[in-house]
Amino acid sequence: KGEKSWEKRLSGEVDQLAVNYVESLSYDRRLYKYDIQGSIAHAQMLCAKGFLTADELDAIKGGLAQIQDEIEAGQFEFNVLQEDIHMAVEAALTEKIGDPGRKLHTGRSRNDQIATDMRLWMREEIDILRSKVRDLQGAFVELASKYTKDMMPAYTHLQRAQPIAIGAYLLSFVEMLERDYQRLGDCRKRVNVSPLGSGAVAGSTIPLDRAMTAELLGFEGVMRNSMDGMSDRDFCAEFTFACSLAAVHLSRFAEDFIIYSSSEFDFVRIDDKYCTSSSMMPQKRNPDMLELMRGKTGNIFGSLSAMLMMLKSQPSTYNRDMQEDKLHIFSAADVLRASLDIATAIVSNTQFKTADIAAGLDKGFLDATCLAEYLVRKGVPFRKAHGIVGGLVAECEKQGLAKLADLPLETFTDACDVIEKDVYDNLGATNVVKQYASAGSAGTKQVEEQVAFWRQEFGQ
Ligand code: ARG
Repeated sequence: KGEKSWEKRLSGEVDQLAVNYVESLSYDRRLYKYDIQGSIAHAQMLCAKGFLTADELDAIKGGLAQIQDEIEAGQFEFNVLQEDIHMAVEAALTEKIGDPGRKLHTGRSRNDQIATDMRLWMREEIDILRSKVRDLQGAFVELASKYTKDMMPAYTHLQRAQPIAIGAYLLSFVEMLERDYQRLGDCRKRVNVSPLGSGAVAGSTIPLDRAMTAELLGFEGVMRNSMDGMSDRDFCAEFTFACSLAAVHLSRFAEDFIIYSSSEFDFVRIDDKYCTSSSMMPQKRNPDMLELMRGKTGNIFGSLSAMLMMLKSQPSTYNRDMQEDKLHIFSAADVLRASLDIATAIVSNTQFKTADIAAGLDKGFLDATCLAEYLVRKGVPFRKAHGIVGGLVAECEKQGLAKLADLPLETFTDACDVIEKDVYDNLGATNVVKQYASAGSAGTKQVEEQVAFWRQEFGQ
């Protein structure tokens, strides 16, 4: 029934345990489209080289198109005895068209076939992921454009640091995502080369036109060495790494928003749609989507480390270990895709509680660095200014004053005689955010410039 050509070599006896253990059909069937695409290109080339007649090529193309329709209509019968998508399609083709189907695998192995299928799949997947990264970037830019003037505290060590325009914080994620976008694009260059024609390991004695199949499949070039061509899985490791780093960024965003939506911070309101409640505590609004985004990062790292573990110390070229690579690239892509989608939805529906945040901006001496820089502008060496301001902060704490601006002028002038009345123009979050002068600072002006830059970049 299986019509495996190696039934002549092996006894043909079947142990269902082994059948179930060796199969990849349950998950590689999602490659059917690429497998058929690759087979059509290979057949066209065989015909051009005189190994198939024009009629045989037509029969193969027709049969494969029919199989694709059947799979897409859910009418194709997958038989686990056929192990994988390649054998399933080939067997169905031969059943449909007879001998021309038996010629399709000329000069080809499942080894270069699967490598081709995965590269075709990944090229498309990368394009989809990149467009989803762009969507999320766009959502961050839109949200940032609403908050160029409103302020929040920036944190380092999760301790209050300096006041910033909220938009500056949001745009920092656009930068991280831009590197993810670029990294996936770099990965795509190494994905988009053709292993087809590498055969089982040593190429073929048949003069295959590899440049032709590469061109038909839209590959940028042909992999030079057959042994590397059919066994290279660097692109899979690279892909899972690019997904991992994007996931790192999503996890940090998720963690921020989880913290910022707590009553202790109360900076953002996550839309109800992206919260769940508690089965027991009636008041709860839990940010479960964000927690899952943070949690699922681990699955993607798992895919990366599984990929590296699988490759490590394998003897040269193809070993069946490699069959498992698909589980990891599919999983990384699926989890990242879903996480990018939900992140975009959440960012597009989040509001910052600007009035509440503003009311708390006097806490934490956010203006201390600005005061030190005021002294620098008056000629005080920075290290000395740092000490003077540190002393003034300690003085506030001693006197139970909430902020530097509560100190009377003579306390300032006692601490340093270059200080004048204009010192108060340098205190308080609003004043500080106006003072930011260096490129890329977290002030309103720089945020507006960055928003304009990204809008132009994205054609928004
Ligand atoms: N299903 C196999 C995989 O995904 C295809 C290649 C099998 N090749 C072989 N020589 N057993 O890796």
